[in-house]
Amino acid sequence: MSADVVILGLGYVGLPLAREATRAGLSVLGFDINAGVVEALNAGRSHIDDLSDADVQSMVDGGFRATTDETEIATAATAVICVPTPLSEDGGPDLRAVTGATGAVARRLHAGMLVILESTTYPGTTDEVVRPILEQSGLLAGVDFHLAFSPERIDPGNETFGARNTPKVVGGHTAACTEKAAAFYNRFVDVVVRTKGTREAETAKLLENTYRHINIALVNEMARFCHELGIDFWDVIRAASSKPFGFEAFYPGPGVGGHCIPIDPNYLSHNVRVKLGYPFRFVELAEEINATMPAYVAHRAQNLLNEAGMATNGASVLMLGVTYKANIGDQRESPAVPLARQLIALGAKVSYHDPYVKNWALAGADVLRADDLESAVKAADLVILVQKHREYDGDRLASIAQRFFDTRGITTTDRAHRL
Ligand SMILES: NC(=O)c1ccc[n+]([C@@H]2O[C@H](COP(=O)([O-])OP(=O)(O)OC[C@H]3O[C@@H](n4cnc5c(N)ncnc54)[C@H](O)[C@@H]3O)[C@@H](O)[C@H]2O)c1
Repeated sequence: MSADVVILGLGYVGLPLAREATRAGLSVLGFDINAGVVEALNAGRSHIDDLSDADVQSMVDGGFRATTDETEIATAATAVICVPTPLSEDGGPDLRAVTGATGAVARRLHAGMLVILESTTYPGTTDEVVRPILEQSGLLAGVDFHLAFSPERIDPGNETFGARNTPKVVGGHTAACTEKAAAFYNRFVDVVVRTKGTREAETAKLLENTYRHINIALVNEMARFCHELGIDFWDVIRAASSKPFGFEAFYPGPGVGGHCIPIDPNYLSHNVRVKLGYPFRFVELAEEINATMPAYVAHRAQNLLNEAGMATNGASVLMLGVTYKANIGDQRESPAVPLARQLIALGAKVSYHDPYVKNWALAGADVLRADDLESAVKAADLVILVQKHREYDGDRLASIAQRFFDTRGITTTDRAHRL
């Protein structure tokens, strides 16, 4: 074999994995269907937040190479699939990238190969979707080749936990498959946690994300009624967090975003509905609460303007931070989009500031970008802090704004209105 591993899908998940494996001395091949991504990577250019151009260049120097040529998959001892798993139009799982990438591996499968799925998906996917495609090759999983699922836990922007020091959950089609996959990850990940099988590993990932989704919904719902009751909910969370056991702090916000939290729990609830015929009520309730947060924030913004005798129609509203997460440029599923839409529908003149986002378009039209933060904050009728990028000093900005609505709880001054 000329490559230890081929990683299929070179995005937020596949690329950091490729870097860690390259760093550990493995010969790593990257496969992606996007020729632009492949070309840029081979030229030492990164397209994701967590890796700089210099990081990619040092991967290339360390032997990493990307390709769109499917035949090269045959040269690898292990194939790891890290392709996107979005929702389809009807809200169900869209596994087209997974089946596409699996098909490519199946056509190049060889005896002894280890195939691992990392994409987040519903329980049973590895066994019911991936395995049959691979077995079309005539080879049998657990007999002729090894098959496992290992959920990706990457947290973009997290400076403490990366691919190496985040424990890796691994579940194989057979016990031997688990061991083979665990041995592979042990070459570049500190701790490997084995599960009984692929379904347990798939469900562990969904439990983690569903847990976050539900707890965020809990604090979002509490934030609303605490506001009505005149209770400072941020102070409540601070106090509750002093309990050294049995409590983990979650914080309210303008809605959930990103590739995982708004999407993955739906994979689980859809699966429960389709297979068992009944709803996963916690997920559906959390979905409902979190999805209405942008409208709630728009409503609170409208009230703030109203209290000052101003109509939202014609008011200038500056949104600070439009990415789904602090300190990165990832805009996928960002709640800033529905929030801006609601404000525009109310007639507000919306502009934005975000050090990580050069252009921001809604329904094909660019939103006006404020380049100078302080003058834009002073000029706007209302400033809404949507994302707590490290560049934003909330109290300072609130002190110069006409009205400042803090949806992330970073301010302490009475001049700010908190969610
Ligand atoms: N981004 C995260 O924070 C995160 C965290 C944990 C888990 N995940 C999960 O990991 C998976 C991948 O997510 P991502 O964020 O890396 O996606 P991404 O969109 O950043 O990257 C996916 C890459 O896969 C490529 N691709 C699509 N179809 C392909 C195919 N058939 N063959 C080869 N390449 C193909 C795309 O061109 C793209 O470059 C998803 O299931 C996601 O839910 C993501």
